[in-house]
Amino acid sequence: MNLKGVKAWFRFRGRRLGFVSFFFQRFSGLFLLAYLYLHLYDLRLLVQGPSAYEAFLGVTTSLWFLPLYVILFGVAIYHGANGLRVMLNEFGYGVGKSRQLFWVFAVGAMILWIIASYVIASLLFNM
Ligand code: HEM
Repeated sequence: MNLKGVKAWFRFRGRRLGFVSFFFQRFSGLFLLAYLYLHLYDLRLLVQGPSAYEAFLGVTTSLWFLPLYVILFGVAIYHGANGLRVMLNEFGYGVGKSRQLFWVFAVGAMILWIIASYVIASLLFNM
């Protein structure tokens, strides 16, 4: 493994906004990958029958899980929104205006995050 290369992931001095957005893109992507693994791992409970899975759902639909869902939504929405911005740039849209495009997507992602957090909170509170 190239550890020198990995250390460079964390070198912020003299970097521009593009690097910061990619830094979060990479770590949000790794977070989603870890979540996907955990999600597949918990789905294996289905093999043990409905009661095992329902007992697990009882835990994951408790209010203790709300902060985790809010974090998960924030990370997923950031990754998706910033990923779409990068793809637009790569197709030639907003070239030379990446900074403005970043902030448009960041504000859009923030609004979406607030709405998603409100929806999941109201669902959990009504369970
Ligand atoms: C709406 C769905 C998604 C979009 C639009 C998207 C888009 C992107 C883009 C464009 C990049 C590259 C950024 C760049 O080169 O500057 C990226 C990186 C990455 N994505 Fe996604 N992605 C999505 C969903 C996911 C999911 C569900 C996972 C994990 C299960 C994931 C894992 C990753 C990882 C690990 C990286 C970093 C790769 C690296 O370090 O070079 N992405 N994503």
